[in-house]
Amino acid sequence: MIKDIRKQAIVYQIYPKSFCDSNNDGHGDIQGIISKLDYIKDLGVNTIWLSPIFESPNFDNGYDISDYQKINPEYGTLENVDQLINEAHKRGIKVVFDLVVNHSSHQHEWFKNSISSKSSKYRDYYIWRDGKEGKEPNNWGALFGGSAWTYDEKTNQYYLGLFSPQQPDLNWENPNLRKEVYKMMKWWLNRGIDGFRMDVISLISKPQNFPDGKLKKGSQYAAFHPLVSNGPRIHEFLQEMRNEVLNQFDTISIGEASAVTLDEARKYASLDRSELDMVFQFEHMDLDGGESFKWNDRKINVVELKQCLSKWQTGMEGKAWNTLFFSNHDQPRVVSRLGDEGQYREKSAKMLATCFYLMKGTPFIFQGDELSMTNTTFKNIDEVRDLESINAYHDFVENKMFTSDQMLRYISLKGRDNARLPMQWNDGIYGGFSEAKPWIKCNDNASVINAEDQLSRADSVYHYFKKLIELRQSKNVFIDGKYELINELDENVYAYLRTDENETILIVCNFTDQKIKFDCDFECSEVLIRNDENSTFINDSMLNPYETIVLKKSINY
Ligand code: GLC
Ligand code: CA
Repeated sequence: MIKDIRKQAIVYQIYPKSFCDSNNDGHGDIQGIISKLDYIKDLGVNTIWLSPIFESPNFDNGYDISDYQKINPEYGTLENVDQLINEAHKRGIKVVFDLVVNHSSHQHEWFKNSISSKSSKYRDYYIWRDGKEGKEPNNWGALFGGSAWTYDEKTNQYYLGLFSPQQPDLNWENPNLRKEVYKMMKWWLNRGIDGFRMDVISLISKPQNFPDGKLKKGSQYAAFHPLVSNGPRIHEFLQEMRNEVLNQFDTISIGEASAVTLDEARKYASLDRSELDMVFQFEHMDLDGGESFKWNDRKINVVELKQCLSKWQTGMEGKAWNTLFFSNHDQPRVVSRLGDEGQYREKSAKMLATCFYLMKGTPFIFQGDELSMTNTTFKNIDEVRDLESINAYHDFVENKMFTSDQMLRYISLKGRDNARLPMQWNDGIYGGFSEAKPWIKCNDNASVINAEDQLSRADSVYHYFKKLIELRQSKNVFIDGKYELINELDENVYAYLRTDENETILIVCNFTDQKIKFDCDFECSEVLIRNDENSTFINDSMLNPYETIVLKKSINY
């Protein structure tokens, strides 16, 4: 078996709040996760990543942590976590926790102390600046609305919160802060977890002159990402973390790195493991963005998608390691975004998984994607729970950029709550997630899309994912083989090759609901997996709607 964790891992992301509620209070919890470990194991997954379960006032669903070493009681206790680690390890599943250390909650003891006085020992754990001519220190806008700076009357300074005022940024320039973070990481690793997914880690090193940015269209604020991402000391900090913490244990480390360039990603995720094992880059996720950020009804163009993913596949080749993902708790559902929610829902979900997970890198499956769970329609802003969507709704509607109906439509298409609806376990009340009314509404299609049904059907998306994972793990070519795109400008079909010294594999994916002819010069010796029993592709080069087929090339001696 291959030893390199990067090559072996198949990661399943759990959003604990919406996964499984064991005590029927409407809120997912750790015992709920434990009760589903066999389900996860059966899928072929060997690593789980949990979104944050730590103590938090929940302004951003746990991405605002008030104590890194305490568990939010809604999820359970530290003993439950020990039990989870133990039960996962028994099944050969590694456990990855979310590490949110670009910022803490404003209710963290450090921050309470920091804000109390200019001479506090913790003052410098956060980023404080004087105002400029009675205004904010610079023009950066917070990701969830308003200025990135919040004024504190008592000490007459501003603190930085790149996401929201409830998420003050930690000051990584301060060596004591860094030491505390490393100590906390070691505490968790000693407890038995296997690694971290590091939240917005590319933002931790700020340019110390805090320059003004270019104003966003129609806004008084500038986007901070171009100025703060991959800051001056980022690689130094991550190398320090590697030496101080990660190298002391057998770990897996995944960095979330929005606005990362290929050059930077090669450093973050270098094969020599001097920093992190891999990073999430978001270029392909941003292809349907625009001037009003994600709030629009643009669709991703298949040619652009191919160009983007291929750039990352070939650009990282031999240098660094990729992640393979097309959804998570911050994104809409992949089948709604790139596939078909109607007649071809299952078929398109299988096609998309084949397309993404047979590339080179570590696959990440977001809970429910293995069932082809879909987006929902938000009919009223009261149904929305996400801070980002709620703030954007008010901003855009109040500024008369969009009507409220338009905004609700965009939130239904792109909003983060789509991914955060309760997991659909069966066709019972609340989809079997809970017997109590959940913290967020359920999708009304749980009677049609649910795990119980899919487990019982050999042709389901769940069973297809399982076969696909088995296939990927069984052949070295999927792990180490080179990637080559073969039809860059074809607007309908995504086709690529994976090749190593022993074999060549062709992966063909029809991204449309039409029959499409796709000619290519490839002599096939074996079909490795397909989503269409009636495929005629091998005989006549015709692909059925959303068909995918994976072929092994015959070798001519
Ligand atoms: C990351 C998380 C997201 C969160 C943000 C601030 O992007 O994935 O859910 O809101 O960081 O912590
Ligand atoms: Ca619960």
